[in-house]
Amino acid sequence: MCGIIGYVGNKEAKQILINGLLRLEYRGYDSAGIATVSPDNVLNIVKNKGRIKDLMENKNIDSLKGTVGIGHTRWATHGIPSETNSHPHVDQDKLFTVVHNGIIENYALLKDMLIKAGYNFYSQTDTEVVPNLINYNLKKEKDQSLESVLHAIKVTCDELEGSYALEILSPLIPNYLIVTRRNSPLIIGSGHGENYVSSDIPAILSYTNNFYLLDNNEYAVITNNSVEFYNESLTKIEKEVRNIAWDMSAAEKEGFDDYMLKEIFEQPKSIRETIGSRLLNGKTNLPDFEISEEKLKEINKIYIIACGTAMHAGLACKRLYEHLLGIETVVEVASEFRYKDPLVDDKTLCIFVSQSGETADTIAALRLAKENGATTIAITNVISSSITREADYTLYTHAGPEIAVASTKAYTAQIILLTILAINLSETLHMNLVLGTQLKQELVEIPSKVEKILSNIEPIKNFASEVYKETDSFFIGRLEDYAAALEGSLKLKEISYIHSEAYPAGELKHGPIALIEDNVTIIGLITNPLTAPKTLSNVEEVLTRGAKALVITNQIVDQSKFDLVYTIPEISEYLSPVLSVIPLQLFAYYISKEKGLDVDKPRNLAKSVTVE
Ligand code: AGP
Ligand code: GLU
Repeated sequence: MCGIIGYVGNKEAKQILINGLLRLEYRGYDSAGIATVSPDNVLNIVKNKGRIKDLMENKNIDSLKGTVGIGHTRWATHGIPSETNSHPHVDQDKLFTVVHNGIIENYALLKDMLIKAGYNFYSQTDTEVVPNLINYNLKKEKDQSLESVLHAIKVTCDELEGSYALEILSPLIPNYLIVTRRNSPLIIGSGHGENYVSSDIPAILSYTNNFYLLDNNEYAVITNNSVEFYNESLTKIEKEVRNIAWDMSAAEKEGFDDYMLKEIFEQPKSIRETIGSRLLNGKTNLPDFEISEEKLKEINKIYIIACGTAMHAGLACKRLYEHLLGIETVVEVASEFRYKDPLVDDKTLCIFVSQSGETADTIAALRLAKENGATTIAITNVISSSITREADYTLYTHAGPEIAVASTKAYTAQIILLTILAINLSETLHMNLVLGTQLKQELVEIPSKVEKILSNIEPIKNFASEVYKETDSFFIGRLEDYAAALEGSLKLKEISYIHSEAYPAGELKHGPIALIEDNVTIIGLITNPLTAPKTLSNVEEVLTRGAKALVITNQIVDQSKFDLVYTIPEISEYLSPVLSVIPLQLFAYYISKEKGLDVDKPRNLAKSVTVE
């Protein structure tokens, strides 16, 4: 995820682009850059690592002359944050400059092909293939006219796999901006004698309320006084301008009330992007992680080490690691592990999970594991974060920036990536390939299952409004359902301040059941067919003692017995937390809203805990 901005008009583009980038900074902030074409048709690019304020202080910023330009604030997915990797990117002949939001999944193949064709590359990004491929395709056109350039762009996009919103600027057509998108956002703002492009509405809301929404695979050719639209096969199409009267802060959250809700709803996309090209031709594909069969055969213990939600993602995957790999897998809280004198040696594989990659305890645990000779893998969402500099290998979740303190989309992305890693290890060991194949199939189906849940939020919202005044809640489940229960319970306590606990369902009667009375809510997670009847009777036991019950299930359950039975799609038990957590995230969210609390910034909590 990142922010892109564009301007074609009658004013100097630079300041308008900077203003837009400042508003888009929440979407990505590891580097920033702007390109303009000056009146004498010279392409100028200024970019650097760091935030927009660093760009504003860049000594070359005043070289950006002209009334046509594009800008980018980056959230790196391929290549560390650095000046070279910052956008805009150009082709080797500086004919095309491009900003990109998204991931070009087949960039490595395209890059190889272009290198063989004599093209030079300077960055480590996936994006740099785009301007070079346009250049390459333009050579097959009859001339360098607008029509030919547009056609070369279309041919290029046909070859791209993955997601993108692209703005393309070229001295060959200096008064035009060409934009297109596939599965990444991009809108066009219509002004008087000027037009704007942006990843989202707020960045340009102070200039115009009139917008064109571009659909997937459509193209727009923009000048200061015209916007022409083309479909996938470059047939001209008409679009209605829409008047959008959002206020600025609502628009920044893309119409959602809070970042947390926006991030919950982003999960189909963040899961899709995390899978990306990691499942290829029926196998897993982790080019950043190569461990030999010999080395892996020596591993006799796996640790998954993390804090909070990231640790819960580990717990959700523990049994899968043990079943797929036949290796004992221990999930540890990082702050415990680091003081434990743990049994770790060169036959141990340690996986560290951290959204931010900056959590002090997780990094300390990583250092300890390394000192003891373990092989270490970091799973994180932030490119080039501290953890990536110390682990032997790094695998990135591609969830995009998570702004809300309560983690949602990072959790589901972590489970997805941990699962792909487990399958990858099992492929290397030639073990349990049938289960691996089944899971690979299920992974691909998850985004649409999450979408299905997100299209049915009313029952959860209504239940939240019935129970938000209650003072205690218990989340129960067995196996992976218990792991999801822990995460649901953490979400609730973080943002609603309701006392909440999670128990393995069978443990309830060993003590906690003494606490059940009228003002208690019980949330039962029931997705494992083997344990479903047991957990159902545990929920019934507490009902008879006056609690209100929400059951989240994909099993057949007598709806009349419980206050709400919320049904989720069927899924393998090993992946069930990815689905069952969604209604739990929504439940916590709506309780917090009912209580009038600040969902995104709960009291006493920091997004990233960089101290002990
Ligand atoms: C999650 O909602 C929390 N705010 C918190 O538990 C978080 O998951 C934990 O601090 C770990 O952070 P990390 O993933 O950035 O390391
Ligand atoms: N994949 C591109 C990169 O890593 C774009 C990332 C973004 O959307 O910011 O540079």
